Amino acid sequence: MRHIETVDEMTRLAAQLRGQGKSIGLVPTMGYLHEGHLALAEAARGENDVVIMSIFVNPAQFGPGEDFETYPRDLERDAALAEEAGVDILFHPEPADMYPTDGGIRILPGPQADVLCGASRPGHFDGVLKVITKLFHIASPDRAYFGEKDAQQLALIETFVRDFNFPVEIRRIPTVREEDGLAKSSRNVCLDAEERKAAPAIRQALAEGEQIFRKNGERERALQEVRRRLGEIPGAALDYAELLEYPSLQPATKESREVIIAAAVRFGSVRLIDNVLIPVKEAAACSK
Ligand code: PAF
Repeated sequence: MRHIETVDEMTRLAAQLRGQGKSIGLVPTMGYLHEGHLALAEAARGENDVVIMSIFVNPAQFGPGEDFETYPRDLERDAALAEEAGVDILFHPEPADMYPTDGGIRILPGPQADVLCGASRPGHFDGVLKVITKLFHIASPDRAYFGEKDAQQLALIETFVRDFNFPVEIRRIPTVREEDGLAKSSRNVCLDAEERKAAPAIRQALAEGEQIFRKNGERERALQEVRRRLGEIPGAALDYAELLEYPSLQPATKESREVIIAAAVRFGSVRLIDNVLIPVKEAAACSK
């Protein structure tokens, strides 16, 4: 596995690979890899000649008082895991190289960014779309891989790529979970023992909501039950729980073809998110 630390070198190498007719799969990450990231890398390995993984804790997507400084980092461990998962090139630039100047240009996402995590993290998705634009230009991928766990991010990136004609296919990879159902996340290591024990209840609450929705399509009751269950998790504070149409992230209607039940819960300063994506046609078929 080759390490690349500069934007210039990565841009030149990607252009060279494309010139040789090689297909490129990009796995953008902020490091501290877990099985969720490795599932993205493995999917990329199966579909591309060359797999590039980026590791960059992107300052542009952290707000004031958020955990940019304390976000877990371990490049040596990440490199070993990435290599094992079949990554060919590990791109880990410095912030000063990625953002040498601040020309003040912003990418302003639409209403998809105003709900769920976007409501309590103003500017977060501007920063995500900014770094994604840069990574797509630098690494020139044919395909880029994102997890369903960050479903709002995925919805925004899919919309952005479609609306602005980025020549890249966005590949959507299911959430990878711990045995007890907790979604894998780099932030899970920040939970203390009691919080870690309580955290799988997030998944259980969402699963209960999904079951109610699938049975008779009762959106309000499904959501109320999710909120009630999340509100009862010891040591946790509910940030949000919503049931929305996916990927528009607008209120779900009878016409919606897919809905998302999404939640964010805080254990002290650690904020965990999870969701369930429900294809509506399939839900209707199940209830017959
Ligand atoms: O999902 C993440 O880890 C980040 O938001 C991403 C997509 C790598 C952009 O910094």
